[in-house]
Amino acid sequence: MVRLGVNVDHVATVRQARRAPEPDPPAAALLAQRAGADSIIVHLREDRRHIQDRDVKLLKKKVKRLNLEMAVAKEILKIACEVRPDQATLVPEKRRELTTEGGLDVAGNLEKISKAVKRLKKKGIFVSLFIDPDLKQVIASAETGAQMVELHTGCYAEAKSKKKEDKELKRITMAAQKARKLSLEVSAGHGLTYQNVSRIVKIPEIEELNIGHNIIARAVMVGMKEAVREMLDLIKRRR
Ligand code: PXP
Repeated sequence: MVRLGVNVDHVATVRQARRAPEPDPPAAALLAQRAGADSIIVHLREDRRHIQDRDVKLLKKKVKRLNLEMAVAKEILKIACEVRPDQATLVPEKRRELTTEGGLDVAGNLEKISKAVKRLKKKGIFVSLFIDPDLKQVIASAETGAQMVELHTGCYAEAKSKKKEDKELKRITMAAQKARKLSLEVSAGHGLTYQNVSRIVKIPEIEELNIGHNIIARAVMVGMKEAVREMLDLIKRRR
C-alpha cells in the first residue's frame, strides 16, 4: 500500500486570513488521521504566512507521524531540532512564491544540505529531500546522507498534453528507480489531484504520496452542505 501524507497548510491559510482561532490545523490533522492519513505535513515558512510555531508544537504532540517541510534556514533548523518532528522534508523556499516552486538544488549546495541533514539526523529525525525528478539530484541526495527523496510531480501535474505527461511520468519513474538503487526511500508530491494520481500510484518504487491543495479543496466542497445545515439548524431553533 502507498502511504498518504496530508498537507494541512491551507487550513492555516484560511485561519490566518482572519487571524482567527478557526479553522485549527491540528484539529483538521486529527480528522485526516482518523480518515486514514499516514502522516500529517506542514510547512513552517520563514515568513509564517500560514503555519505558526504553535501549530508545529501541538501537531508533534497530537499526530502519530509529523512531517515538517522546511527550508535549510538557521532559525527553522533550530526549531526543528527542538520540536523533533518524525520527519523533516527539506524544500527550497522563496519569499514571493505562492507554493514551493521546483525542487532543491542538492547538487549545487551539497555541503550546506549535507550539514543540515546531519544535524537533523543527530536528533533522530528522518530526513527527506524534495527534488526534481533529475538523476543528478537523486545521486547528490544519496551523498548527503538523507534517507528519502520526495520527487516533485509539478511538471507531470501541469502537463498540457498526453505526450508531455508521458514524458514527465518517465522522468519520475527513472528517478524513483535510481533512488531505490541508491537505497533511498521514495515519495512524491506537488500538484497531485483526484484526477491525476492514478498513474503515479502505479510506479512501484514510490512508497508515499504527499498531497495538500486538492484534498483541502475537496474537503471544502464535501463539507459545505453539512456546514450550512448546521448553521440553519441553529438559526431555526432560535425562532
Ligand atoms: N510536497 C511538497 C514538498 C510541497 O511543498 C507541497 C506543497 O506544500 C506538497 C507536497 C503538496 O502539494 P499540493 O498542495 O500541490 O498537493
